[in-house]
Amino acid sequence: MSGYNLDGFSKLSRSKRFEKLLELGCLTKKDVKLLQGPYPIPVELAENFIENVIGYFPMPFGVATHFVIDNKDYIIPMVVEETSIIAAASKTAKWIKNNGTIITESLGSLSIGQIQIADVKDFNNLKNILEKNKLDLINQANLKVANGLVARGGGVINLEIKKLDNMAIIHVLVDTCEAMGANIINQVCEFLKKPIEQLSLEKVSICILTNLVDTKLVKAKVTLKNLDPNLCLKIEQASRFAEKDPYRAATNNKGVLNGIDPILLATGNDWRAVEAGVHSYASANGKYSSITKWRSKNSGTLVGTLIAPIVVGTVGGVTKLHPMAKMSLQILKISSSKELSKVCAAAGLVQNLGALKALTTEGIIEGHMKLHIKNLVMSINEEEKLNNKESELLSSGLENLLIKTKRVSLQHAKTILTEIRYK
Ligand code: MEV
Repeated sequence: MSGYNLDGFSKLSRSKRFEKLLELGCLTKKDVKLLQGPYPIPVELAENFIENVIGYFPMPFGVATHFVIDNKDYIIPMVVEETSIIAAASKTAKWIKNNGTIITESLGSLSIGQIQIADVKDFNNLKNILEKNKLDLINQANLKVANGLVARGGGVINLEIKKLDNMAIIHVLVDTCEAMGANIINQVCEFLKKPIEQLSLEKVSICILTNLVDTKLVKAKVTLKNLDPNLCLKIEQASRFAEKDPYRAATNNKGVLNGIDPILLATGNDWRAVEAGVHSYASANGKYSSITKWRSKNSGTLVGTLIAPIVVGTVGGVTKLHPMAKMSLQILKISSSKELSKVCAAAGLVQNLGALKALTTEGIIEGHMKLHIKNLVMSINEEEKLNNKESELLSSGLENLLIKTKRVSLQHAKTILTEIRYK
């Protein structure tokens, strides 16, 4: 039996939650002071989003620059803690702006809900019944649940069925318009449960959307001209590595998501859903692979593509409730969820190109580390309260060490500071 008794914790006021966590030794008085704010957004809003709120967790909020996607300029808001993601995105976007293009395309607009009949008695009968009643079921779902979507030009579009072992799986295809659509898809599937059971005498097991939305893909394509043919070749070779080898594909795709997740966070979208969708799509051929592909064409032309499900919303969830998410959509000046999805795809592909360029030329350490040095100096400053001269000497000492050894760490920083102070 655990020693923590947290019964009723969710019903406590925030100050009582602090008391409880203080009592359990999870928080100090200093922590409570920090958690009490002030915050730029009322804590009551957080209480609307999640449970057991103790405060906000501020993350760095920046903008990536120089993006021209489909001939339109974008400033891209990003919420992210990792050093050099925004710098690499902006630098690579500028390189593309001066030497090429980013073009995007939506491939499909339907999301999928799944209804499982775990132990189907008569699959063929169920299939016939579903075919015969398909239009009526779609109409009922549109009338009773998805009427808001229908009014905006979307709604339930189709029902499909497949057999997997002794299961029947019904796919409910829904156009969710500007919403990511998780809630409405789940509601539609749950609504259909009863009529399907009544018509077929089968028993529905679970109803839930899928994040593998291969019916709503987005494509981004980067074309760069007049490059060093050797660089193009090296980037193609790095791409082929990720296409063939799941170990490399995982890290390649992580780099792609470095460009996508920060936008999802900034716009209040569900990044776990997109991550799940992207990774499952990356394995759609039975083996985990890269979601990007780079090829060297002619001499000095490089072409990269990304295809993935990046299902996002510009209404619903917290997108319009969280003032910062609302602000991000305003910074982007986008007019639809399809456009947001395209921006994410473009940023992911650009980020991937930035990483591959760094990896195939100076290596990843150099760019990463320069910014890492800043962080090291800042963390030493927390403890040691550096004066301006010490801080300058420490930065240049770390930079010299980086040039010499390609390595810098907190331990190195501490040693250099001791040397500076000793001298
Ligand atoms: C680091 O966050 C991302 C990279 O590892 C991506 C890649 O290897 O392609 C640099």
